[in-house]
Amino acid sequence: MTAQSPLTIPMEIRPARMRFRNEIWERTHGWRSDVDVAVEQMARLLDVKDLEGIKKAVEVGKPDRTYGYLNDPRAFFQALLAAQGVRQQDAVSAYHKTRDTLVQGEVMIANQITISDIKADIGSIGGHIKPGISVVEAVRKYVEQEGVNSGLLRSFFVSSTGDDISILMTHQRGKLDETIHNLAWNAFLVGTEVARLEGHYGAGQDLLVDAPAGNVKGAGPAVAELEFVERGAEPFVSFGADKTNPGAFSLPLYLLSDPMYNSGLILADNMRPGYTYRILDLTHKGEDKAIYLNTPEDLYDLALLVRDTDNFVIESVFLKTTGEQFVAVSATRLHDIAGKYTGKDDPRMLVRCQGQFPATGEVLHPFALGHLVAGFMRGSHNGPLMPVKLNGTISWFDGPPIVTAAAFSVKNGILTEPADAFDQPFWDAVRHEVAQKAQWIRRQGFFGAAMLPWNELEYSAGPVKKMKALQSRFTLERDGEPMEGAAGSQKD
Ligand code: 13P
Ligand code: 13P
Ligand code: MG
Ligand code: MG
Repeated sequence: MTAQSPLTIPMEIRPARMRFRNEIWERTHGWRSDVDVAVEQMARLLDVKDLEGIKKAVEVGKPDRTYGYLNDPRAFFQALLAAQGVRQQDAVSAYHKTRDTLVQGEVMIANQITISDIKADIGSIGGHIKPGISVVEAVRKYVEQEGVNSGLLRSFFVSSTGDDISILMTHQRGKLDETIHNLAWNAFLVGTEVARLEGHYGAGQDLLVDAPAGNVKGAGPAVAELEFVERGAEPFVSFGADKTNPGAFSLPLYLLSDPMYNSGLILADNMRPGYTYRILDLTHKGEDKAIYLNTPEDLYDLALLVRDTDNFVIESVFLKTTGEQFVAVSATRLHDIAGKYTGKDDPRMLVRCQGQFPATGEVLHPFALGHLVAGFMRGSHNGPLMPVKLNGTISWFDGPPIVTAAAFSVKNGILTEPADAFDQPFWDAVRHEVAQKAQWIRRQGFFGAAMLPWNELEYSAGPVKKMKALQSRFTLERDGEPMEGAAGSQKD
């Protein structure tokens, strides 16, 4: 590429996401590398001999090789057009021409929308129960003013699950977009200020860094994002859970591969092929450590991993046939970010439903189990997950752990009002049963399975000190007599 003066495409023009052939397809069908395929396709479509120029432009556009898209399509186009020697005065028309060619050649997807669900606990009233109305309202107003009025968002919805506030946003900027993430972060900062002024508990609890670098993943807030081309009718569910961790969603997602729960696997031809799961190893810090498993063939391996909810978490689910993603779970561990306990990693999950995906009712089915999850009081106990109404609150023993489900339809990125999926008489019976189950495990207090294992206790500093003191008082004995000089032996 010859040295070019910077070329800019005006900000009003929002390049659609550029999608390469998905690497998931490659894994399941043995296709060639997505980036190489895309570069060759682009060169052919644009009749460009300079492959290097396109490759460099792709790098400038920050490619995501896992999901096969560009994080910064504007930068990509600017670099591509500059490499082709386009002059600044021709930038806009050259951009449109190039973009249309790439869309028609199916290298690039137009009309792609992104749903971003970003949540944070920024303070709550009366303990870790629920955010104050004033705080939720401050967050909502900020997103409306800065997000909708500026044209950044197509639409949004603010709700709460226990003490966590979720900002659900639709836009065309793709996943992990810095501008969208900053909008949510700043809305949480504004809300935190209100929480502080009014003396709410744990104001700013989940905002763990001074300012996020790029996107808010790893900065404290939980993030679940899906990007796709809308179908004619596009239903999806936004789940939130409080007083638990992202592993809580692994069982309901595993059960999508079980015809006992997901009847579509035997009744709907287009659902028969099964799914590809992306599972993260959360013990690994830094880059994502991921494994891909296909169902039904890898079902037992999937079970082996996800039974361990503290270490392995299902982060996405794809259709095995097309690689299309329909599930996104926020998978982070806050205490690995903060270095100490600040609160549980209360998760969010987005699931697209119906048609080739499981029906909404099939996705909801496993939540009637009230399965035991880690969290509850002080993030250190096991308790059953109770499905509650939207904006549901926390109470007994700072629990039980709860889950909410807001079902939406979306058209051209515009959300309908939510259907509150757990606000239906059936769930009253489930709640009753879960309340009994919660009391049942709480009767044994701290003992055994009721409390989390040592390494998952969230307030470990105090207990660690106590355990050290106790360790030094243990002595080695043989036949009931103290062993003289034995290592570890010590007399009182
Ligand atoms: P949150 O993570 O929801 O703030 O709960 C913290 C806690 O300690 C509850 O007892
Ligand atoms: P679709 O296949 O149209 O999503 O319908 C499934 C259904 O309604 C099951 O309840
Ligand atoms: Mg809290
Ligand atoms: Mg919480």
